[in-house]
Amino acid sequence: MNHLVAPSLLSANFLNLEKDIEMLNRSEADWIHLDIMDGVFVPNISFGFPVLDLLKERTSKSLDVHLMIVQPEKFVDEIAAAGTEYMNVHYEACTHLHRVVSEIKKRGMKAGVTLNPHTPVLLLEDIIRDLDMVLLMSVNPGFGGQKFIEHSLEKVKVLKELILRKNARALIEVDGGVNLETGKRLVEAGADVLVAGNFVFSSQDPIHTIHQLKSL
Ligand code: DX5
Ligand code: ZN
Repeated sequence: MNHLVAPSLLSANFLNLEKDIEMLNRSEADWIHLDIMDGVFVPNISFGFPVLDLLKERTSKSLDVHLMIVQPEKFVDEIAAAGTEYMNVHYEACTHLHRVVSEIKKRGMKAGVTLNPHTPVLLLEDIIRDLDMVLLMSVNPGFGGQKFIEHSLEKVKVLKELILRKNARALIEVDGGVNLETGKRLVEAGADVLVAGNFVFSSQDPIHTIHQLKSL
């Protein structure tokens, strides 16, 4: 499968989101990645349901929601109601991960589990077959525009091996510090989905930048 590109709205212009969403609609972006933060799980607050709810009226791109919040299980209904395709919860935020994953799938969404940079991939051994996606953080979550952590490439390879060994079907998504150089190496290592925030939105021509990421 060719890899997918999911620009992160976190780096968009929040005073003119409509313009950036229209740009994404015209681009080759496969999904829109939405970073929801609570100021507790991560040291930052982004946006919440009012923004998420408006999106499904404005785009036909798949919504990929990355919850950087404690107790994400509380909001499965709200996330589903927003028309989300992929709901990603952090491994580190879920005591009863298997239950949360089941609740996500019960609402017809696809379930993703996100790992912080320090969380070993092999902790997913007993749940990988239940997952539609694993989101590997290649920066510490909370902020856009950070430097890519090199060790993430090794994690992509270990995850790919785990997926093959377990005969699982989870996609591998990588988030943080993605540009043309890191993106190329990630795709070569086995990544299926590249998230990119700052690299897309700070470029002169975001549509072209998305095209370049798609063409890696
Ligand atoms: C960080 C977020 C990312 C962020 C990526 O906590 O999860 O999705 O927007 O930003 P860049 O691509 O700028 O590193
Ligand atoms: Zn994210």
